[in-house]
Amino acid sequence: MRAVLVGPPGAGKGTQAQILASEMSIPKVSTGDIFRANVSGGTELGKQAKAYMDRGDLVPDEVTNAMVRDRLGQEDAKDGFLLDGFPRNVAQAEALNKILDDLGGRLDAVLELRVDQEEVVKRLSGRRQCRNCNAVHHVDFEPPAAEGVCDTCGGELFQREDDREEVVRHRLDVYREQTEPLVSFYEGEGILVAIEATGSVDEVTERAKAALRSGA
Ligand code: AP5
Ligand code: ZN
Repeated sequence: MRAVLVGPPGAGKGTQAQILASEMSIPKVSTGDIFRANVSGGTELGKQAKAYMDRGDLVPDEVTNAMVRDRLGQEDAKDGFLLDGFPRNVAQAEALNKILDDLGGRLDAVLELRVDQEEVVKRLSGRRQCRNCNAVHHVDFEPPAAEGVCDTCGGELFQREDDREEVVRHRLDVYREQTEPLVSFYEGEGILVAIEATGSVDEVTERAKAALRSGA
């Protein structure tokens, strides 16, 4: 399956992408995770992306599209992938169609995760992410067995710079202005499926699987 998860910051895209990709044995491709790995590794790409990320703005399309083209061209993505955090505007969606045309393949489904703003703020203020494997925890909703330690790999959990409240508010504005138009773009392509992303992580996973089965 070749699918995209779209939804506001904190909707649970990363959480669900991790679970679904592992069950389907396809890679999860998260542009946010790739950028963060480059920022902490001090690479040229990381240097280009950091200021945008800290403000909650989108990294320029040419940088992001080139990175995704490279990632989707790798061997493990040949038979399918779950994209988390890309595309994020209509120009990126058009670039993705072009990338898939060139690689030979097309998107099967775009899953929209719907969640209200109050829930987003609660989820992001308590989020802790693993420095080592990118697994996501929440101090109240998905607490790790030992404080500050990743359940999956034992790595160190940290709080993201862009999870500060004023940055979260700006990311929500950017989502509304630039990313939400993708919903009608993909409706027009006939591949959009949408679910409510409230409730427990397991409940959302079940809804996501049912929606992907019906839409793909
Ligand atoms: P990115 O990392 O993609 O951030 P985002 O889209 O804002 O999404 P988040 O990672 O904040 O949320 P999520 O939906 O994955 O939620 P999660 O599963 O973690 O992007 C960061 C930055 O990188 C951007 O601002 C931009 O600068 C740059 N960037 C990335 N992609 C780009 C692109 N394509 N173009 C340009 N720039 C780009 O869940 C959140 C929390 O809630 C967690 O703590 C989790 O444990 C908890 N939780 C999850 N599900 C539930 C549930 N059902 N119940 C209770 N808690 C839950
Ligand atoms: Zn980990």
